[in-house]
Amino acid sequence: MKSKALQELYARMANCKCECPGEREGAGLVKDRYSSRDTGIVFLGEAPGGEEIKQGVPFVGQAGRKLDTYLELAGLSRKDVFIINSVKCRPTKNEGRANRKPGGCEVKACAHWLEQELEILSPRVIVTLGDVALKKFGGSKVRIGNYHGQPLVWNQITVFPLYHPAAAIYRRALEDIIQEDFIKLGSWLKNNLKP
Ligand code: URA
Repeated sequence: MKSKALQELYARMANCKCECPGEREGAGLVKDRYSSRDTGIVFLGEAPGGEEIKQGVPFVGQAGRKLDTYLELAGLSRKDVFIINSVKCRPTKNEGRANRKPGGCEVKACAHWLEQELEILSPRVIVTLGDVALKKFGGSKVRIGNYHGQPLVWNQITVFPLYHPAAAIYRRALEDIIQEDFIKLGSWLKNNLKP
């Protein structure tokens, strides 16, 4: 039921004609194929990169390998969580040779896709990865540095904000903090999300 609704949604997404500035590719191509979908735990990233578009799966590049090690610290595996992205295409530059951070226009233009996806998934908690995903729930002024590692309820939605796994690649000092946050997530899920 969820699976069919998601398939239909991704088929509609593939025809999306985004009119935002900048180049991009692959709307609707990236789908979580590992999760059992009904876990109640959704992880929300930023946007797919080149490897994700190639394989059609979220978080399978460098950031994905980081995410896998962090999931383990939380006592989770890929099948325990359903992973989606805030932006549904890969924002590119240099004629597709590099990724770029999604612009505000792209985040806004994709918001309706994300909302439909969340409605289908109806998660019990949304674990946001990084600033772009956090702002969806906390508004444009929130900063991940002030919110990471603790659950919050915004507009009746339970959100558990975490740093984006790629943050540790660029800022080594975040590695311990991110590891601690994932351990906290694991304990929180154990105590609050009993099946
Ligand atoms: N980073 C993201 O935010 N999402 C992906 O799918 C891959 C890398």
